[in-house]
Amino acid sequence: MTVTNEDELEGLRAIGLIVANTLQAMATAMEPGMTTRELDDYGRKLLEREGAVSAPEDCYDFPGATCISVNEEIAHGVPGERVIKAGDLVNIDVSASKNGFFADTGATFRVRPVAATLDRLCRDGRKAMEIGIRQVGPGKPIAGIGDAIGLFAKKRGYTLIRNLCSHGVGRALHEYPEEIATWPNRKERRHLMEGQVLTVEPFLSLGAQWAVEGDDGWTLYGDPAGPVVQYEHTVVASRNGPIVLTQAG
Ligand code: CO
Ligand code: CO
Repeated sequence: MTVTNEDELEGLRAIGLIVANTLQAMATAMEPGMTTRELDDYGRKLLEREGAVSAPEDCYDFPGATCISVNEEIAHGVPGERVIKAGDLVNIDVSASKNGFFADTGATFRVRPVAATLDRLCRDGRKAMEIGIRQVGPGKPIAGIGDAIGLFAKKRGYTLIRNLCSHGVGRALHEYPEEIATWPNRKERRHLMEGQVLTVEPFLSLGAQWAVEGDDGWTLYGDPAGPVVQYEHTVVASRNGPIVLTQAG
């Protein structure tokens, strides 16, 4: 959607805060020995308490309130009996709606202790997202996002997953401009409109280049195998600079 008035911005800010706080609280509660279902149940409780509805469940019949992806799982991981262990990389992705407004956020967390290379990957994954967000503004080329992230990844020797896109969001979980590459894409000629709401969510990796679907029809794995992190914010292309809606507070 594109934001055209203050009421719309307030509606988006409200759901943005809910998903951000849910993500943060889930990360804080996460500990070795917990199953991903237990973690998801906690997330569901937090969303319900705020009057929000899980978007993947509501829109796609996803079997969980949130997506929880551990290690070789890189996205759309289904909460279940998997036990979280020390050394794991755990991605939690929370998207939900309230009063007709949608927001989407995600982050990869380390269950300590983890290898130093993974610390660096996580730090740079967040940085890659921030670099992409800086390219968001009215009239700016959409390709600028992927170009900037691609340059950063290349300089530091990382790969990017090239078939998991960022997307428009706001009145639905996925909407115009549907597929926004977080890697250089010469075919992209569109520009952002004033007030456009979108996610920026690069998947940064040490080696993986593609996401491939697993047997459960949901879980995505990296190919070739390698550690992958994802950081995601929902952002508005405002004249006064990008507005990040999914900041915890
Ligand atoms: Co997400
Ligand atoms: Co998203």
